[in-house]
Amino acid sequence: MSQTRPTAVIVLAAGQGTRMKSALPKVMHPIGGRSLLHHAVSAADGTCADHLVVVVRHEREQLVAHLDSLPLASQRSLLIADQDEVPGTGRATECALTQLPEDISGTVVVTYGDVPLLTTETINDLVEVHESSSNAVTVLSAEVDDPTGYGRIVRDSSGALLRIVEEKDANEDERAISEINSGIYAFDAVALKEALASLTTDNAQGEKYLTDVIGLSRQAGRAVAATVTDDLWQVEGANDRVQLANLGKELNRRQCEKFMRAGVSIIDPDTTWIDVDVAIGQDVTILPGTQLLGATDVATGAVIGPDTTLKDTEVGAGAHIVRTHGELAVIGAEASVGPFAYLRPGTSLGESGKIGTFVETKNSDIGTGAKVPHLSYVGDADIGEGTNIGAASVFVNYDGVNKHRTVVGKHARMGSDNMYVAPVTVGDGAYSGASTTVRKDVPAGALAISVAPQRNLEGWVQTNRPGTLAAQAAENASEGERISE
Ligand code: UD1
Ligand code: CA
Repeated sequence: MSQTRPTAVIVLAAGQGTRMKSALPKVMHPIGGRSLLHHAVSAADGTCADHLVVVVRHEREQLVAHLDSLPLASQRSLLIADQDEVPGTGRATECALTQLPEDISGTVVVTYGDVPLLTTETINDLVEVHESSSNAVTVLSAEVDDPTGYGRIVRDSSGALLRIVEEKDANEDERAISEINSGIYAFDAVALKEALASLTTDNAQGEKYLTDVIGLSRQAGRAVAATVTDDLWQVEGANDRVQLANLGKELNRRQCEKFMRAGVSIIDPDTTWIDVDVAIGQDVTILPGTQLLGATDVATGAVIGPDTTLKDTEVGAGAHIVRTHGELAVIGAEASVGPFAYLRPGTSLGESGKIGTFVETKNSDIGTGAKVPHLSYVGDADIGEGTNIGAASVFVNYDGVNKHRTVVGKHARMGSDNMYVAPVTVGDGAYSGASTTVRKDVPAGALAISVAPQRNLEGWVQTNRPGTLAAQAAENASEGERISE
């Protein structure tokens, strides 16, 4: 347990987020496979604070349901605080405190639900600076080229923090300040409560500003400070979809860099997308145009791509996946998939197995070393170890009302263009002829054939299609035969 562990982290998420222009609440928009709120809660959770509070108001029910579903690393439960009709970040923080013990002491951190790149490490560093300087408030600030819209950090001539002024309340000189308030703070709990009690809405926006706590604390003779971060991305909020995309891109850049430093070859990080919950082993190679999403887990030495999307998919060591779309699938070690394969949920491919070109699979277990190499649909099937399914075969699983399963045993050699009309079972080591429609069970070791013997109607083309190029070609061929006889 770190010495700098805060008593509480409060995540503010009661704002409306109108600039997103969306039916979905702003903090529910995802980047890197997690909602903005999930990113913020995870960073807060990582501090192992005693209490974790999220302040909500707009779309409350949807946010609460989402928060309930989030996995927390620490054991404590997440507290929900409802903000009332009084607006402002100061009021939001007051509402959060109602969920915390009356006699709370120590450090209280405030962060935002729409700032997704902030890390636990940065929060911990802020808490450390705050506690080691015995400040009442320590705010994380940043130097930016364009401070428009932000609260400005006002310092005296010696550089000491005086207060924060919101843009709408600032005079011309203050608006020229390029050091801005990130909105992330560490507070002494007692000083925070005291200052919040004297906040007013006497300002340009008629809100209770959390930023006023700094001026008030200073007036009360307490120490306040601003510590500048040089990682601007960590304090950047997503207010509209342009910022959302930029943050998503930066998050992805950081993801790719993390994996490359851990021994993953990413040929083109600009066209590779890796969600934050993805795991990738050493010496994996990722070719351009690849997206690894959700809880995808790729084991050592696998080669993925180009142009492959895998979501919640497990890839075994040394597997090769080329131009494939896969979701909720399990691909065994040394297996081969694609090009142009579609693995739908419930697909499981055994070690050294193959799902080849233009093959779609769903809810099927394809055994160790089994192969479905070309142009097939495999739905609701169990295909045994070492079995080969011929090209252009369909597992006919749907009778128009219900789905049924097909079972094919081990080491079977099934012909091309077979239809497996489920429910049906093929025994171990069976064979089938080309174009067999398997409607009845096939015993182990049997050869199944369902097509009628071929008949050739000699001269049919010349008689029935006279004057065509086909008839001419046929005529020439039979003349050639007569000459060579
Ligand atoms: C706030 C700061 C400003 C800072 C900026 C950084 C205040 C008064 N101003 O600006 O100095 O530069 O953040 O982004 O604090 N929220 C609530 N309840 C509310 C209002 C906001 O929970 O009543 C939450 C929002 O959901 C959001 C965060 O607080 O997560 C910031 O709100 P926003 O309106 O974006 O920030 P400003 O108040 O404009
Ligand atoms: Ca505002």
